[in-house]
Amino acid sequence: MIFGRVKPLDAILATAAKKSLHRSLGPFQLTMLGIGGIIGTGIFVLTAEAAQKAGPGMILAFVIAGFVCAVAALCYAEMAAMVPVSGSAYTYSYAVMGELVAWMVGWALVLEYAIAAGAVSVGWSGYVVGLFQSLTGITVPKELVLGPIDGGIVNIPAAIIALLVTWLLVLGTKESATVNAILVGVKVAALSLFVVLALPVMNMDNFDPFAPLGFAGISAAAASIFFAYVGFDAVSTAAEETKNPQRNMPIGLIGSLGICTIFYMLVSAGVIGGVGAQPMLDASGAGIPTGSTQLAAACSAIGDSKVVCSKEALAWTLREIGWPQIGNLLGLAAGLALPSVILMMMFGQTRIFFVMSRDGLLPTVFSKVHPRYKTPHVVTIMTGIFVAIFAALFPVGALADISNSGTLFAFGAVSIAVLVLRRTDPDRKRPFRTPAVAVVAPLSAAGCVYLFYNLSAYTITLFFSWAALGLVVYYLYGYRKSHLGRGIVEVHETDADAPPQPVPPIE
Ligand code: ALA
Repeated sequence: MIFGRVKPLDAILATAAKKSLHRSLGPFQLTMLGIGGIIGTGIFVLTAEAAQKAGPGMILAFVIAGFVCAVAALCYAEMAAMVPVSGSAYTYSYAVMGELVAWMVGWALVLEYAIAAGAVSVGWSGYVVGLFQSLTGITVPKELVLGPIDGGIVNIPAAIIALLVTWLLVLGTKESATVNAILVGVKVAALSLFVVLALPVMNMDNFDPFAPLGFAGISAAAASIFFAYVGFDAVSTAAEETKNPQRNMPIGLIGSLGICTIFYMLVSAGVIGGVGAQPMLDASGAGIPTGSTQLAAACSAIGDSKVVCSKEALAWTLREIGWPQIGNLLGLAAGLALPSVILMMMFGQTRIFFVMSRDGLLPTVFSKVHPRYKTPHVVTIMTGIFVAIFAALFPVGALADISNSGTLFAFGAVSIAVLVLRRTDPDRKRPFRTPAVAVVAPLSAAGCVYLFYNLSAYTITLFFSWAALGLVVYYLYGYRKSHLGRGIVEVHETDADAPPQPVPPIE
């Protein structure tokens, strides 16, 4: 019975308890941590994608996606605080719903983390290439900076940044708390500057028609723009280091998500009001699918003169409304700050592979640690190559959507896990309890399902194919090799060679 392979929570917690807890984080630090993980390619780049799907109604899409994230975050936080060990949703599921579900969640997290790292790499490339072109006046051949679907051949800068980050991770580079704080400042300053410059020149006529592709368009945009909020797990996983988590975790989670939602609404209002956000339609009046060769061709035909064609939506908008230098400055901010998001995502991936391998579900080579650098170099390099290939070949929106499918699956599973555990193990100590769990958890699960089914049919098919492949791999490998299946219960939190977190909390 596979569902019988449940990792005993007590074994996990006994090990976790051995870690020295230093509760130092307050609400402000948690909120900063959240904002650091959240703001990235989503707002800087995918705003164009959202406009193509929803038109000005994308403002509403930001609110919907932010809301689903907020309820999911509250569930995630209960689990994170109760099972404060690495492996995130994978480990929580192992302890609550058993090995098969855990494996599927871990398998889906590959999409979440690795593909997201690819998406952010492509986003970075768009900004850096735009900045280079704007500063030097040299037009870089499309073939070298865009993937085939976007009208190029290979996105070289995206692959390079992915490999560069991989190299840093192999060396064991850690971002200092100070660097993290500075990057949060840079991102917030860049978005604030955008809002301050774009809002005063808003033309309200641009908001009409508000939803040219109907509510379906807004839902589709919400499903894509969900990507812009991913990264708040940084807050949940800091539960152990939080003072008074019951009070401070929700403040950190809802605070960072709330602040980002407000920023995102203001920024999208600025884009809509400043340059208009009507989608490109085909001859029949339907929206041209994002990330399609058709859209690339239609954009090419109008000289990329609409925001939905831009690979650097915010910088492009600023240049259009008469602030070319500030546009470049914003490009610079994105160029500096996005690699840290890639680093966090890629690290998350290697850490999950690491834990899955130590549980026997993946080959031991995945948890091999470099003798000198003390990093899981084999799995890091494998992940890096995989990310670089995807970044080189696929459009940012397609990657973000695929990543979302995995994230929504994992969040949905965690929301259910929270409810299950409240029933099966009501007396367990919960440092943080999801408020109004009977409402919040089902709302979160339903929200994840709603957004999932509003992803493109192509993305959904890809997700299920990936899941099916996962099942095959599990039965061929994990099922037989699983340590738990062989009666060995282990937790790897205190393994002396386990890799550390790359980004320490801001103190
Ligand atoms: N939320 C992160 C971003 O938008 C993943 O880049």
